[in-house]
Amino acid sequence: MKKPVVLYKKLSPPLMARLHEHTQVTLIDDLGDNGLAQLRAALPEARGLLGASLKLDAALLDLAPQLEAIASVSVGVDNYDIDYLTRRRILLSNTPDVLTETTADTGFALILASARRVVELANMVRNGQWTRNIGPLHFGTDVHGKKLGIIGMGRIGEALAQRGHFGFGMPVLYHSHSPKPDVEQRFNARYLGLHELLREADFVCLTLPLTPQTEGLIGAGELALMRPESVLINISRGKVVNEQALIQALQNRQIRGAGLDVFEREPLAPDSPLLSLSNVVATPHIGSATYETREAMARCAVDNLLAALAGERPPNLVNPQAYRH
Ligand code: DGY
Repeated sequence: MKKPVVLYKKLSPPLMARLHEHTQVTLIDDLGDNGLAQLRAALPEARGLLGASLKLDAALLDLAPQLEAIASVSVGVDNYDIDYLTRRRILLSNTPDVLTETTADTGFALILASARRVVELANMVRNGQWTRNIGPLHFGTDVHGKKLGIIGMGRIGEALAQRGHFGFGMPVLYHSHSPKPDVEQRFNARYLGLHELLREADFVCLTLPLTPQTEGLIGAGELALMRPESVLINISRGKVVNEQALIQALQNRQIRGAGLDVFEREPLAPDSPLLSLSNVVATPHIGSATYETREAMARCAVDNLLAALAGERPPNLVNPQAYRH
C-alpha cells in the first residue's frame, strides 16, 4: 500500500508524477488559514511531509503519530525542532549543495547593488528624475579590490569567497567556528576573530545558519565596530541580526548601507523603517530562487523523502541519530 504524504509546496509535473507513483499524495497549495486546517486534518495519517517555509513545531507534529520523514525544500533547518524529531525518530532531510552557487550569486548581487546604488539609481531613472549628468551625490563605491568579510565559512561562504577572490580581486577575510586551512589556501583567505573582521571588512557578509548560538549575533555593539564605509550583507537568516539595531545604524549612517535578503519577520512589513532608507537594498528572500535551482532542490527533497519512506537512509539526512539501520 502506498504511504500517505502531505506536500505543502507545489512541485513540477514530473516530480508530482514521481511522488504519485510511490505515495498517496495530499497537496496543500496555499498555507493560508484554509491550508493550515487542511494540513492539520491530514497529519494523523501522514507518513511523510515535504515542503518549506513552515514552522513545524511539536504542537503541530504531535498530530502526526505515524510520521516517518520530513523532506525540507531548503538548506536551512531552523523551522524544525531537531531534538524533538530525533526523539521521535522522524528523519529530517534538507537540500544542500544544489543551491550553493545560486545563493552566492544572490550575495554578490547584493554586494554590487549596495555598493553601486543600483536599485536607488535605477528608480531615479524610472521616476524620470535623471535630468542631468550625475555627479558625486550619486557616486557609489568600488567593489573590486575591497576587503570581503565572510561570517560563516560553509559551502555558501566558500562560493562567495571564490567570486570575490578570483572575480573581483578582493582580499578575503573570514570568521567561522574554526579556521579552515584549505579555504585559506584556495582563496588566500585570512581567519579573524568576529570583532576584528567587523572592524576590517568593507563588505561583511553573513552566510551562517540560524541556531541558538547565532541568533542576534550582530547587534548594536557589533554594528558599532563596522566602519562608516562598510556594508552589511545578509543572505542567511534575518534573526542573526538585531533588526532594530541595524535600522538605527543605517539611519545614523554609522555604516554605508545594507543588502538584505532575509528579515526578522518575512514577508517584511510594508511599513518597515528599512524600506524608507535609500541605503538599503531589500529583496524578498530570493537566495536560491531561480527556476533551475528550485527544481533541483525539489528533486533533491523528493529523493530524500522516497528514500526515507522506503526505509533507506536519505542522501541528505540532518539527524542521523534518528536513523534505524
Ligand atoms: C534555504 O534553503 O534555507 C533558503 O533560505 C530558503 O529558505
